[in-house]
Amino acid sequence: MIDLDTPLTILGGMTAQTFLNEYWQKKPLLIRAGLSDFEVPLEADELAGMAMEEEVESRLVIENGKTPWETQQEPFDEDTFANLPEKEWTLLVQAVDHWVPEIQALKEQFQFLPSWRLDDVMISYATEGGSVGSHYDQYDVFLIQVAGKRRWQVLAPEEYQDSAIADISLHILDNFSVNPEMDWELEAGDILYLPPNFAHNGRALDDECMTYSVGFRAPSIQDALTGIRDKLCENINVKNRFAAPETGNREHSAEIHQDDVSYLQAELAKLINQPDVLANWLGETMSESKYPEYLAPLNSSDLDKAFQNAIQGRTFIRPGDARICYYLNDKENHMTVFCNGESINLDSELAPFVQAITDQVEFDFSGLDLSQNDDLEPLVRFFIRQQGVIELVAPE
Ligand code: SIN
Ligand code: CO
Repeated sequence: MIDLDTPLTILGGMTAQTFLNEYWQKKPLLIRAGLSDFEVPLEADELAGMAMEEEVESRLVIENGKTPWETQQEPFDEDTFANLPEKEWTLLVQAVDHWVPEIQALKEQFQFLPSWRLDDVMISYATEGGSVGSHYDQYDVFLIQVAGKRRWQVLAPEEYQDSAIADISLHILDNFSVNPEMDWELEAGDILYLPPNFAHNGRALDDECMTYSVGFRAPSIQDALTGIRDKLCENINVKNRFAAPETGNREHSAEIHQDDVSYLQAELAKLINQPDVLANWLGETMSESKYPEYLAPLNSSDLDKAFQNAIQGRTFIRPGDARICYYLNDKENHMTVFCNGESINLDSELAPFVQAITDQVEFDFSGLDLSQNDDLEPLVRFFIRQQGVIELVAPE
């Protein structure tokens, strides 16, 4: 359970309540020593090693490369790194939490925010002077300096024009000026929180510079509208047609009357006014796995085996890249649980069990009384099948 009133180290001793009231989605916050005793799980050369793997999303930004702001995409090889200039380049590796368990643990520190908004943890390594250019993101982001130093300069949305350098692949602002009040040097352990659309320019001050970006996404209202429309259209009765009652106050036959529009508005509002449908779209969309191609739902015999292991007390964990969320409809005593893009409908009495799964990381299911609720076994099987929980297998 989230305790909003306890000071949090990751917020530099601020409570989550203060952060949410004053900063979240509103203004930047510099947090000194928010992550000071963090043991960096991945050195720069290991990060470069990851970037050489085909399935890992990564890119290089070289400010003065073959072209200005040259970018290169993975996969990289030894030659790529051997041929880089000495200074002013950045390697960025996406979704490291997907591959490295220690990074998954870091995400748990952000439980005071909706976990289903957390996209991924990107790691950048830069040599002195390295920058990806001044830009803005649509994300809320926590920029955690884990090694070396970086200077961050930030502008509020009203302090810059959205005009970008021409003829390069990156959207780099061509009019970034410095606001001395938002010009900070970050050392290892310091964190900078930025709301969406705050322009930022981060320049490495040494060759050790490593920054983790913990990014929180938000679906666009445009995506919500089209997604929900598609969902509504799946079940709509096509025989329902426009049938505004003729009240006899139309003076000219060609007129689309206010009553016609009000009728249509009311019909559409009835469709939209279905919280379960909206929640389903949100849950399914936000729980979609970042890399569904690496997700292999268990077949029935593996599922049976894993389920037996679970109830016999083998340790299960919730992997840090599992996307789980739920929607509770208390009025109707039901809930929908979403896990990696799929959903299951359940009796809302199982809410505490679902909350335990999403609040904790390690589980022992041996004490479960499956006869307590008919939905309990299907729920445990659902989590196992969808890899919302996986068996912790000791290394050989
Ligand atoms: C970086 O780590 O260099 C860039 C991160 C960002 O601007 O979001
Ligand atoms: Co950015």
